[in-house]
Amino acid sequence: MNEPLGRRFRIESLAGTHDRADFTCGVPALDRYLANQAGQDAKKGYATVFVAVDVETSRIAAFYTLSMAGVAVHLLPESLKRKMPRYPSVPSVRLGRLAVASSRKGQGVGKWLLLDAMARSLLSEIAWAAFVVDAKDDDARSFYSQYGFLELPDDPMHRFLPRRTVEEALTPFEPA
Ligand SMILES: CC(C)(COP(=O)(O)OP(=O)(O)OC[C@H]1O[C@@H](n2cnc3c(N)ncnc32)[C@H](O)[C@@H]1OP(=O)(O)O)[C@@H](O)C(=O)NCCC(=O)NCCS
Repeated sequence: MNEPLGRRFRIESLAGTHDRADFTCGVPALDRYLANQAGQDAKKGYATVFVAVDVETSRIAAFYTLSMAGVAVHLLPESLKRKMPRYPSVPSVRLGRLAVASSRKGQGVGKWLLLDAMARSLLSEIAWAAFVVDAKDDDARSFYSQYGFLELPDDPMHRFLPRRTVEEALTPFEPA
């Protein structure tokens, strides 16, 4: 159990070879998404889907999705708006879904994948200035809150970090 997560799990793009049907995270909508929708989203360019696969069993231990998004400037706090050019929206990366299998919770996998998602986003050549998360419920919201995500007033379930904050947080982190 004390083995580093990078040795226990491989993070890779979702592929047809992954068994998606037996993944359960305690939120049926997320299980159904992985089983029925994630492949289509990846194929059609709606989301990049990453899975953390147990190196011993090849079972999916967790997954997350990334997409490009835009945050309307009028939703941002005044302190950030003042420093921005007059564009209607802020180019963003959206972590749309993040789920850890029930049997793997509490082992640091969720945090590790959040950092991995941020690190991969920073490696992208496509510009973005905010990292947005969709928290599906209060539980998810409290998970993200501990990392300093700021609220967007349109929906308390949408939270974001400015790119600078992500860069500072990730300085010592290498993606898997
Ligand atoms: C929320 C979720 C991703 C957390 O994953 P996890 O692997 O259990 O979390 P970790 O073990 O990495 O926990 C990292 C830290 O978050 C804390 N944490 C975990 N779940 C939390 C929660 N629901 N609320 C507040 N803090 C939480 C842990 O105590 C830990 O804190 P520490 O670093 O101080 O020890 C996971 O419980 C899950 O898949 N939930 C169902 C789906 C979901 O809500 N997804 C999120 C949005 S779509």
